[in-house]
Amino acid sequence: MAVLELRGIRREYRLGGKQGGGVTVRALKGIDFSARAGEFIAVMGPSGSGKSTLMNILGCLDKPSGGTYWLDGIETSKSDGDAFARIRNKKIGFVFQSFNLLARTTALENVELPLFYDRGNRRESGRKKMNRKERAAEVLREVGLGDRLYHFPSQLSGGQQQRVAIARAMVNDPAFILADEPTGNLDTEMTLEIMSLFQDLNRRGKTIVMVTHEPELAAYTRRIITLRDGELVSDQAAGEKQPARDAREDLVQWKRDHALLSGEREGE
Ligand SMILES: Nc1ncnc2c1ncn2[C@@H]1O[C@H](COP(=O)(O)OP(=O)(O)OP(=O)(O)O)[C@@H](O)[C@H]1O
Ligand SMILES: [Mg+2]
Repeated sequence: MAVLELRGIRREYRLGGKQGGGVTVRALKGIDFSARAGEFIAVMGPSGSGKSTLMNILGCLDKPSGGTYWLDGIETSKSDGDAFARIRNKKIGFVFQSFNLLARTTALENVELPLFYDRGNRRESGRKKMNRKERAAEVLREVGLGDRLYHFPSQLSGGQQQRVAIARAMVNDPAFILADEPTGNLDTEMTLEIMSLFQDLNRRGKTIVMVTHEPELAAYTRRIITLRDGELVSDQAAGEKQPARDAREDLVQWKRDHALLSGEREGE
């Protein structure tokens, strides 16, 4: 079964008032798209092509003007208010460019947070017995931060903060992870670390959708969809034209080059 299924998704913004003059912006013009469990998808496209609009709909932060969106078998357009928010909290793990961690809260507590909203889900009855803290610690270990549980965000590197955010996104075991320019605030080394973490998680079965402007980052995913003027203009599996790159290998290579460079500098 598809995790995500979009049929004829449209989003129009009606600009009212004196300034708007009744103009309608057609941000999405009928998007058909589906994703299976275990995919790693990049959403690309030039500025204004509709990426954020599509992300907001995929993330159940906004509703389409028309069309149907099934998420994990649920027709999201039929839910409103609390039910819509519940789908969002249970089914989607968000990762943003700005990590959005609570500053005066440890890594462990940041990751625990979504579990406080996680009640009454039958699928999770086994896990509910597990202590919240244990679950949060388990996910932090999964992202390689088992030795940073009690650090505050300010005591972590940018890449580590983003890993806490990724752990927080995964703690509820969502249907998919929705990442919006997740490495936009990170340097090359941290970017490669985060991309190799995403690749690891994906190899272990996590479904990931990532918006990015950068083709180099899209090359780490396994499928690239491209928007233009509100339409899906290309949907390309990795390997058709350019094979997906391995972020871990690139990280090793980058470190080698970097050590070489700084070695040269020291030798001058
Ligand atoms: N709230 C809004 N009201 C009116 N028009 C909007 C609104 N949000 C987006 N748009 C318009 O919809 C179109 C798609 O915008 P969107 O933000 O989805 O693009 P994007 O691909 O995310 O661009 P960028 O790469 O610059 O972030 C644009 O033409 C934009 O001007
Ligand atoms: Mg955008």
